[in-house]
Amino acid sequence: MVEFTLNGAHVRIDGEPPTRTLLDWLRETRGLTGTKEGCNEGDCGACTVMVTDDLGARALNACILFLPQLSGKTVRTVEGLAAPDGTLHPVQQAMIDHHGAQCGFCTPGFVMSMATAHANGAQDYDTQLAGNLCRCTGYAPIHRAAEAAAQAPVPQHIASELASAASAAPTNLSSRGAAANSAEGGQPAARNPAATCGTTDAAVFQPNTSDALAAWYLDNPGATLIAGATDVGLWVTKQFRDLGPVAFLNACADLRGIDITDDTVTIGAMTTLTELLPAMQKLHPSFADMIRRYGSVQVRNAATVGGNVANGSPIGDSPPALIALGATLHLRKGDSRRALLLEDFFLEYGKQDRSPGEFVEAISIPRQTDRLRCYKISKRFDQDISALCGCLNITVESGTVTAARIAFGGMAGIPKRASAVETALIGQPWTDASVTAALPAFAQDFSPLSDMRASAQYRLASARNLLRRYLAEDLGVNVSALEVTP
Ligand SMILES: Cc1cc2nc3c(=O)[nH]c(=O)nc-3n(C[C@H](O)[C@H](O)[C@H](O)COP(=O)(O)OP(=O)(O)OC[C@H]3O[C@@H](n4cnc5c(N)ncnc54)[C@H](O)[C@@H]3O)c2cc1C
Ligand code: FES
Ligand code: FES
Repeated sequence: MVEFTLNGAHVRIDGEPPTRTLLDWLRETRGLTGTKEGCNEGDCGACTVMVTDDLGARALNACILFLPQLSGKTVRTVEGLAAPDGTLHPVQQAMIDHHGAQCGFCTPGFVMSMATAHANGAQDYDTQLAGNLCRCTGYAPIHRAAEAAAQAPVPQHIASELASAASAAPTNLSSRGAAANSAEGGQPAARNPAATCGTTDAAVFQPNTSDALAAWYLDNPGATLIAGATDVGLWVTKQFRDLGPVAFLNACADLRGIDITDDTVTIGAMTTLTELLPAMQKLHPSFADMIRRYGSVQVRNAATVGGNVANGSPIGDSPPALIALGATLHLRKGDSRRALLLEDFFLEYGKQDRSPGEFVEAISIPRQTDRLRCYKISKRFDQDISALCGCLNITVESGTVTAARIAFGGMAGIPKRASAVETALIGQPWTDASVTAALPAFAQDFSPLSDMRASAQYRLASARNLLRRYLAEDLGVNVSALEVTP
């Protein structure tokens, strides 16, 4: 059973498969066809809905959101955006006034992203709307509409949902959750929704704590864990896979949040990329810049750091950055825990050092002087998977390289350190000559593949150039096309 609030009314759902998506349920069961299906894989934003909980209002893609992920939350679709008396939401009115819709297929999704940004006071519309595609308007009228609506107050029915979600914060916060919330500027504390889905059904489990998850997973080691479902969702919507037993991790408040001490930054596995971004902005701003280019707002609002690591993808964006920072992975199986360097977790393509019944609890990185630079190379700036992603963390003392951690995604079957390049640099003066001398070592570290994203040659040449770029940036050269002003 799943319970949540939909457009102001309480709903209780029984008998739906746990992998029923919100999009299908809205359209097929409730007749709420305003939420559109474009790609059904998180790319186009036509299915965007507003989901409110203790984290505030978030835009999410309903096509890769399973019903149990909504337990205890508040959902607004385009049908529920106008006020109860029919007054249009300011962004709806502005879309009309500024001719923001032509064929209109994308419009409900845009409107929901815009309304969520409006509720949050966000006005960086290039970012806020990067996850919504429009084939007709050329975007300018949509931007104008968003700007025009910005000054209008948040309508009462939306404001009161935000306020009641914030006031429903629990008192049983883990220290990790509490630390994360305070680190990010006093966000409301985490609510721990009740495990309302499937606890009586052996095939579905939605624990409230990592202890409960650990015990259940030990007994069900073949089960699929579902975190943000930005990967797993596609297994269902695109590959039509029957997942068998599943456990939803979203109610485990103790797996969420970021704990920052003098020595260590500990990131709970269920921390979303959206939550990680502001923490990294303070500690490692280049990592934050890369997270800004990770998927879209909707994807970052769902995707978790644990999922981005555990999926073992060779092109995941956070593993190279975390490896370059010297991250440690914290795994748990039943009551036993172990820690290993993140780089040792990735064994070969599709194979990680994780045994059945074992899950990721957290990732920790040592506090350090920021020397990290992350370079994501992809065909599009927004909403694109990396062709390669280079993360470099080089320490220079008195003009000499004393330490180097360099990691790449997209250059091998796993996220991998450039050990030969690091060795070639350490002990050398931090100069163009040393960097040039280290470049051949890239071919020792990597034999990349050619695929639809890039050729092997391009990847190798780009990786070498990223080391040059790091040196140039370190010497104060402006290397970012985004910072070039006319
Ligand atoms: C439109 C779109 C754009 C994307 N863009 C990017 C991008 O720019 N960069 C990028 O790196 N990725 C991108 N992705 C991929 C995806 O967002 C990430 O891999 C994401 O981090 C997965 O996290 P999740 O929480 O959604 O994981 P899920 O889909 O829930 O799970 C992924 C895998 O990890 C396992 N898992 C999850 N949590 C745990 C845990 N705690 N312990 C053990 N196993 C666990 C699951 O069982 C599953 O095998 C994109 C995806 C989409 C749909
Ligand atoms: S239908 Fe395209 S993101 Fe959901
Ligand atoms: S108005 Fe036609 S796709 Fe946006």
